[in-house]
Amino acid sequence: MTGPAPTWRRHTAWETALTPEDHAALSALLRVAFPGPEFEPDRSWPASWARKEFRVWLSDNDRPVAHLGFERRLIGTAAGDVLVAGVGDVAVAPSHQGRGLGSALMDALAEVLPDSADFGFLQCREAVAGFYAATGWTRVPNPTRHLGVRDARSVVEGVFPTFVRPGRRPLSQWPSGLVDLRGLPW
Ligand SMILES: CC(C)(COP(=O)(O)OP(=O)(O)OC[C@H]1O[C@@H](n2cnc3c(N)ncnc32)[C@H](O)[C@@H]1OP(=O)(O)O)[C@@H](O)C(=O)NCCC(=O)NCCS
Repeated sequence: MTGPAPTWRRHTAWETALTPEDHAALSALLRVAFPGPEFEPDRSWPASWARKEFRVWLSDNDRPVAHLGFERRLIGTAAGDVLVAGVGDVAVAPSHQGRGLGSALMDALAEVLPDSADFGFLQCREAVAGFYAATGWTRVPNPTRHLGVRDARSVVEGVFPTFVRPGRRPLSQWPSGLVDLRGLPW
């Protein structure tokens, strides 16, 4: 038996194409998903983390209910530079969690990634690692180096929950060893 058809709609947009109304609506979602000072009304990008350049979101009755952003960046690895889409600000509205929207968001990302970067890349809290493992991401053991989000100057290096997924290149080509994000994390 199949359930009712989903009522949400898929949106993709470059950051430069977002309207003030888009920012306000996305900010409302991100503020309930990430309570705290990272997102303010009308500012749908995080205060401390890297700003994204492309957005993917799902709306229900014109209200964004699931969102992710990514920024493309050439990161440094022992095997040379690699173009990644650094993904962050992944959020599903509390009212809509547990209904497959996070998974649908990743399906939408999978459609744009091959035109955007060699690999998708993200880091997360251990508490949500299972979500990424269930939605097409592969956990990798690489240590990473990036600027610290507290001051955007200090250098942070370590092994954190890190996931990649194929874009233009297959996962078999993901390099081993230290990955230098060359900036703020996503
Ligand atoms: C994490 C989050 C995006 C998941 O969205 P969601 O719409 O509830 O996820 P889905 O319903 O699409 O679940 C997809 C799969 O992930 C699993 N999953 C979801 N949340 C999980 C979690 N916290 N830990 C482990 N697995 C999880 C589901 O069981 C499902 O698995 P299945 O396909 O094997 O049944 C959502 O809970 C959220 O926005 N949380 C608050 C913000 C946040 O922490 N974002 C991540 C920042 S790194």
